[in-house]
This record gives sequence, structure tokens and C-alpha cells, in this order.
Amino acid sequence: MHAVGIVAAAGSGLRLGVGRPKALVPLAGRPLVGWAVETLLTGGVDEVVVTAPAAEHEAVTAAVPAGARVVTGGATRTASVRAALAVVRPGTDAVLVHDAARPLTPPEVVARVLAALAAGAPAVVPVLPVIDTTVSVDASGLVTGTLPRAALRRVQTPQGFARAPLAAAYAALPEDAELTDDAAVVRAAGVPVATVEGHERAAKVTVAHDLALAELLVAR
Ligand code: C5P
Repeated sequence: MHAVGIVAAAGSGLRLGVGRPKALVPLAGRPLVGWAVETLLTGGVDEVVVTAPAAEHEAVTAAVPAGARVVTGGATRTASVRAALAVVRPGTDAVLVHDAARPLTPPEVVARVLAALAAGAPAVVPVLPVIDTTVSVDASGLVTGTLPRAALRRVQTPQGFARAPLAAAYAALPEDAELTDDAAVVRAAGVPVATVEGHERAAKVTVAHDLALAELLVAR
């Protein structure tokens, strides 16, 4: 099975508040995008395509292992993944889409996703249980209901797909559609999405607290 990894790294990182794209922010001296590419390769992916902000093509290229292909991303994550998918060869069996913002994802999670695809799943996402009581609220913040926690999962990346249904689902998606992950794209096209166990270390770095926590984890 030939697997290509896509690393979405073209975000601005505004919520991290460091004044530069999040993917280039260092964790233990190494840009987040470098960690994410390394994880995919160690976990068993054969080649990697990285999406970079237009102005940071060179910086992202310098931050990732030689051989990783860098393409310019789009205005949304969905547009960025679409741009990377466009350069994935049709002969590819599997595509794993990963966030640069999840630098400490253990390679074993990548391996679990690849194993599920090899076993025939057309789509698979790593998930973790929801541990807090989770409620819905109205516009004023008033609680309107408690969600059935046992049936809820937190979805991580890398998300894995057979290439053909992923490409078809993106082709069928309206040009301006903006979905928060790729499983939502294939589900919109009617593709069933399986789950495998994720990992707390695959948590997304979004705000300063997340980066501080990641630094502590690397130092352990
Ligand atoms: O904004 P968020 O943290 O959800 O972004 C998830 C991932 O998608 C990040 O790694 C980010 O770099 C990437 N992204 C992208 N292109 C965009 C926006 C986000 O590749 N236009």
C-alpha cells in the first residue's frame, strides 16, 4: 500500500499570538511542521506533501525533512488540503491528512490509521473519549441540554482515506465549502468513517497554554 501524507501547515496561527504562522513556531527548537512530517514518515507513510502559507514557502521547506514536497495552501484548511490533494498521484492507495498543529502525535497512531486502511476501511479517524460532561447552550450561554457523553468522541489527525473516495469527495464539494476536518468531507459524500484509538499527545496546539504543555512533554 503506497501512502502519501498531507500536512496542513498553511494556517496563520492567530490564536497562538506569536505573530508568525503556527507551523513555524519552534517546539524544543524545531518548527511544529517538522515534527508533524517526521511523525508521518516514522509511522509508515511513504511520502509527504506539506501546505505552506504563500509567503513562507522557503521557511517551511527548510523546516521539513528533504524530500517532502511543499505546495502553497489556501485561505481555509479545506482549500489547503484541496491544493495538496491536487499533486497526489492517482496511483497512490492511501492519503493521510495531518495537522502541523499536532506535533507530538505518536507514530503508533499513524500506524493504527494505516492498518485500518490496509484492512479495507475507506476512511478512518483517531478518536478519544469525551471525559467532561458536555452541554449545549443557547446564544446567551444558557445551558439547553446535556449531550450523551458515551456516544461522543474527540477527533484527531492524521485522518486516513483511500485516495479515490477522498479525491471524489473533494471534487464534489462546493469550491467555497469550509469544513473543519476531512472526515466531514467524505461523510458529506456518503463514505463511512471508521475510528481507531487516538492519543492524548496528539492534542492540537492552538493557544499559548497548549505550546507550553507540549514543551513540558518533550522535556520529560
Ligand atoms: O486553525 P486550525 O488550528 O484548526 O488549523 C488546523 C491545521 O490546518 C493547522 O496545522 C493549520 O496550519 C492548517 N491550515 C491550513 N490552511 C489554512 C488554515 C489552516 O493548512 N488556510
